[in-house]
Formats: sequence, structure tokens, C-alpha cells
Amino acid sequence: MRITFKLIASLIVSVALVAWFFAFFQVRQEKNKQYEDMERRSRLLAESLQESIEPILGKRPSKQLQRLVEKFGNRERLAGVAVYDAHESPLAITPSLSSLLPKPPAVVAKSVGHGTGLGEFRGINGIEMHLYALPLKKNEEAAGALVIVHDAAFIRIQLGHIWRRTFFRVLIQAILISLITLIMVRWSIKGPVGKMADWMKQLRAGEAVEFISLPKEDLLAPIVKEVGTFAQHLVRAKAAAEAEAKLRQAAESLWTPERLKEHIRGKFQGKPLFMISNREPYMHLHRGGKIECIVPAGGVVTALDPVMRSCGGTWIAHGSGDADWETADPQSRIRVPPEDPLYSLRRVALTKEEEDGYYYGFANEGIWPLCHIAHTRPEFRPEDWNYYQKVNQKFAQTVLEELEGIEEPCVLAQDYHFTLLPRLIKEKRPDAKIALFWHIPWPNPEAFGICPWQKELLYGMLGADLIGFHTQFYCNNFLETVDRTLECRTNWDRFSVTKEGRSTLVKAFPISVAFPDASLDLRPRNAPEEGRAGLLEDIGVKAKFLAVGVDRLDYTKGILERFKAIERFLEKHSQYQKQFVFVQLGAPTRTHIKRYNDFLAEVEAEADRVNWKFKTKEWRPIVFLKKHHSHREIQPYYQHADICLVTSLSDGMNLVAKEYVAAREDNGGVLILSRFAGASRELRDALIINPYDIDQVAEALRSALEMSPEERLSRMRRLRETVKENNIYRWAGNLITELTEVRLNQKPAAEVV
Ligand code: G6P
Repeated sequence: MRITFKLIASLIVSVALVAWFFAFFQVRQEKNKQYEDMERRSRLLAESLQESIEPILGKRPSKQLQRLVEKFGNRERLAGVAVYDAHESPLAITPSLSSLLPKPPAVVAKSVGHGTGLGEFRGINGIEMHLYALPLKKNEEAAGALVIVHDAAFIRIQLGHIWRRTFFRVLIQAILISLITLIMVRWSIKGPVGKMADWMKQLRAGEAVEFISLPKEDLLAPIVKEVGTFAQHLVRAKAAAEAEAKLRQAAESLWTPERLKEHIRGKFQGKPLFMISNREPYMHLHRGGKIECIVPAGGVVTALDPVMRSCGGTWIAHGSGDADWETADPQSRIRVPPEDPLYSLRRVALTKEEEDGYYYGFANEGIWPLCHIAHTRPEFRPEDWNYYQKVNQKFAQTVLEELEGIEEPCVLAQDYHFTLLPRLIKEKRPDAKIALFWHIPWPNPEAFGICPWQKELLYGMLGADLIGFHTQFYCNNFLETVDRTLECRTNWDRFSVTKEGRSTLVKAFPISVAFPDASLDLRPRNAPEEGRAGLLEDIGVKAKFLAVGVDRLDYTKGILERFKAIERFLEKHSQYQKQFVFVQLGAPTRTHIKRYNDFLAEVEAEADRVNWKFKTKEWRPIVFLKKHHSHREIQPYYQHADICLVTSLSDGMNLVAKEYVAAREDNGGVLILSRFAGASRELRDALIINPYDIDQVAEALRSALEMSPEERLSRMRRLRETVKENNIYRWAGNLITELTEVRLNQKPAAEVV
């Protein structure tokens, strides 16, 4: 109220000032014009009078001259005319003027002196007059002067009118403009701000947490952004507090982001966490003339970003986006997540040759097929191996730079890209506590044994104090592989390996997802456009039942087998034709590798083949959406699909299975899960299948659709309990506890033989 009053008062004052100045200048201009006009008229009159007077001018007053003067003196606004001789004695003067000009005015002498006509304004008896004097000549000699006197009072009166008219006109205009401005301000600021305030009030009262469409006006954009983030924090904090309270009541021990944060604070005592992976969690790309930030697809990023958001620290990764270097600072760092920075990302640059040899070559054409039993032959090329070693050294160098000045730092390296890194770091920083987490399967010793550099890989890995796998089965395979390959002591009771006086603990930590997913708390639920009908309409099909698959387009994911199973299902249970649609969200991946490129074409061809067989005008059984989908874009599919199909031929864990479960707040939906995915060890209430057994998968599809609602609900409820209990925060909490409890051998590994 006070602000509005101040705003209105200041508007009135400034508007009045503007009107005053405007009127002032207008009047000044008009005054000059009127004065000039009067001067001009007097001069013209004087000149025409001069022509009539000069011939009859004598040395004394004459009747003829007096008559002439009186005749002229009758004109409008003319106060009178006077004629003086060379000694300024009056020769003739109009009667009305003789009382006003008892003496000749000074302008007479001035004009005679200058020999030219001169005018002046002066007050006579309190009236403003204009006097114009013009010298007179007789026989080419100065013979006197004539004076024309005009009443100029009308000018002031006119100026007064103009002043008032202009002032009020401008004042009214300015008041109108101000009123419109006030209404606009009220409409475009007060309205949205009020709406935002109401929404925040509701949020505070815990009534509505839906992310209403906040105002989009440019003026309010920075506030809206901050309010949005602030609200997200508030909702998260509130949800966490509620969860904690519930837990305390139920004496449970669920892991939450806050609990992890506290736990890490206690364990690390203020020291940062160092995470290393090949794939970066946020990648900047040039798209359509703009820079976009995307979260790349894949389990590592899905699992570890929530951990880093909770703990803070530095994540070191390959900067592979084409706009990564424009967005990072000169030290190759950037704070992420971009909308709400919570930790640092340090990007490592690789040359094209390094990326080809280390990433595409050794890691993804060598180790990846070596560890995934999916019948793609691994390729081991010496030049790739050289680059792999070189890049591990490069990353080790970057990590060592980051660790400088920090005592007993904790380092968490990820995956098969960095088998050599633990030892490279340990050699230089024996005080560092290093864990390596292996996100893919570990095969049996015979399968691993085909790698020409198996010893070097294992030796590098054993530089870590702790090696984590998803399942006990992979731990067993690893220990057996080490036992058969290196000279070392394996302790099957403790599950550790001792080599050169240093021990490495090997342990299973089943990785998971954020549950509940705080980043999605403010998403509108069941908004019409996200409903199933809306989803299907968007992709141009009509169907009663929806199944979904979400994968990187990798040959290990069993996508072709999945399509074949759908074909079999529709053949065997034709009543589901035109009723059932399967949407495959597929993110292209590693496409520079021929096998991946070929695979992409195979998936497309297989989808076409099956669709061709069954499709009608309005329906086709498979919708293949080949692009990178964001977490948010995937959510509605998870929330509305009757079935999620995970048919990996070989998979370390598979977080899609867990994400689907986490998204089903309604306890609906059925998960069909391959027995060859690590997740099948935990998610026992899924329909577990062998993806190579096409009939079995087809039958699982039918049972999922025909399952009684009670069974579906109770299976999903149990699945959700499992994922909730074993969420990513528990994974990180357990892994970090284990790592911080490692007893360090302070001698550099290289010195101990
Ligand atoms: C798997 C690997 C990850 C990798 C992800 C995506 O989940 O275990 O290390 O990041 O696939 O693959 P990409 O090659 O695109 O990073």
C-alpha cells in the first residue's frame, strides 16, 4: 500500500514537472514569435507612414501633419503615433498618446543616432507597450523621427492562455500515460508476483507442490528461476524431514541424500570426494545455433550424479561435448548441475587419436565385449592398448593435480576405462584411499584370459584399496581370475587380494537409483499431456496397452530379441493386435564403432519387419524413437506403461529396471527382467526371463497383461520396497564407509616387492 502510494506520489510530481517544463518552453517560443510579429508590423506601418509624412514635413507643427497622424492613429491595437523634429520637439501627436508620452521616448534619439528604425517594449502607466521609432529625412537631411506605439498587453494575455492550455493538456496526457503504466505494472508484475506469493504460501503450508506455470515475463525471469530452485530445495528438504521423521517412528534406516551428506561429513571431515569416470555427467553441445546442456544416457551418470549432488566434491571426466570448452573456465572446470550448482566438474581433453584408441578401441571394442557375454568378439589392437595406457596416465596426472595439498584424499574411480589408474595414483600418493567400481559384468577366468594384457589390467586394478562389483557372482569371478593370473595371495574368507605387501578388498555393492527421485518432485503428475492417451497421440498410435523399453542402442541390451518376442506374442495372442504397442526409447551410442553402427541399422530393420507384418492404418506394434531422451522425457513413459521390458543379454546391473520401479508411485505396472542383468538378483518380484527364449518372453508379456490387479500391486509394492531400501544413497554410504575404513600401507606401492 505504502509502495503504491509512493509510486503514485512520485508519478504525480514528475508528471507535473514535465508538464511545467513543457509549457514553459512552449510559452517562451510563442512569446518570441509574438514579439517578432509586433516588431515586423510596426516597421511596415512606420515605413508606409514615413512615405506620407516626409513630403509634408516642415519645421513647425502643421494641421496637415496632425490630420495624417490622427488618421493613422485609429488602427487596431495602435496606441498612437507621434512625429518629432530634429530637436525632438513634437510636430504632431495623436491625442491619446500625448498624455502617455509627455516627453519623447529614448528610442527616438537612439534611432536618429543609428539612422535606422528601432523598436522596444516598455511599460507605460503600467501597460506594456511596443514603441517603434523611424528617422525622417527632408532633402536628404535628418529632419526628425516618427514613433509608432502599440498596446502590447494582449501578448501577455495570450501567453497566459497558451501557458494554461499547454500545461493542462500535457498534464492530462501525462496523467493518462501514468495511469496506463500503473495498470500495466499492476497487471504484469503485481499479478504474477501475487500468484507466485500464493503458490509459495501453499507450498509452505504443504497444500500444493505442483509446479504451476510461473510467470514468463522477462522482467521476472531471474526471480522466477531462483524461486523455482528455492522451492525445489524446500520441497526436497521437507520430503527428507518427513521421511526422517517417519523413519525415526518406524525405527528404520532408509538412506536419504541428507543422511548421506551427514555421513560423508562425519567420515571425510570436510575433505572433498574425487570421482573419476570417462563419461561426464553434464555435456555441452551446439544445437540449432545455441548451446544445450544434456545429461548423457548410461548407468554411471544416472547413479553417481545424485551422490555428487549430496556430497559435493570434484568429478573428473572426459570433456566430450563440442561446446564443453566454451562453457568451462580456463582451468577446465565448471560448476554443475547448471541450474543449481552443487559440485565441480573438471574436464579432461583428449585428442581424436586418444579417444579413438582408448575409448572406442581398447575400452569399447576390447574390454566391453570381453566382459559382456553377448557374442561380439573383442578386438585387442596394440595401438589401442598404447592409447589406453596413455589416457590412463593423463587422467592420473589430472587427478594428482586435484589431490595436491589434501591429506588422505578419497578417490572413487569408475569402470573399465580406468583399470590402470588406481596403481598410477597409488604410486604417487600412497596416502590416497582409492576405490574402483566396476559397472559391467566380470566374466569367468577363461573368458577374461583371452585378453593379451590381462596381467597389466589386473595389476593396475590392484592399486586400489577397494574394488566394487554389483554382485557377489562378479566378485567371485574376479577373485578367481586374479588367483589364476597373478602371483598374489587371495583370501577367500575376507575377499581380499594381497600383492606386494598391499591388500585390496573385493566387495559387492549393488548400485541403484535415487529413490525417491527428489529432482522430479515438482513435476506435474497426471497432467493431461503426460497421460497415456496424450503420450500415444504424440507418437501417432492408438492402443489400449503400452509397454516400454529404454536403452542405449547397445548390442548387449537384447533389443532384437525383444522385438522377436513381441512378434511371437502378437502371433500367439492375436487378440492383442491393435491393442498393444511397444515403445522403444533408444539413445544412439558409440556410433563410430562399426558393430554399433550396424546394430542401429539392424534394430531399425527389425522394427520395420515386425511392424510391416502387423500394422494397420492407425496402429503398429513397435514405435522406435531413436534419440537421446532426458530423464524428464522418459518419466511419463515409465509412469504410464503397463510393462517395462529389460531383456539384456548381459548387463552389470541395469538401472532402467530400477528407475521403472522407482517411477511407479501408483504401485502399478509389471517389470519383465532378464536373468542376465545384475538387477535380477535383487528384483525377484519382476517376471524373470531368459531373453534368448523368445517364447518365454512372449508368454511373460501375456502374463504381465493378464496378471490380476492384486498380484501386480503386491509385486510392484515389494519391488519398490527393495529399491527404496537399497537406493543409491545406501550404495554410496556403504562404499564410502568401506573405503574410509581401509587401513593404509603408507609405503609407495612401487617400493614394496
Ligand atoms: C555403461 C558403462 C558406463 C558408460 C555407459 C554409457 O553403463 O558402464 O561406464 O558411461 O555405459 O556408455 P558411454 O560409452 O556412452 O559412456
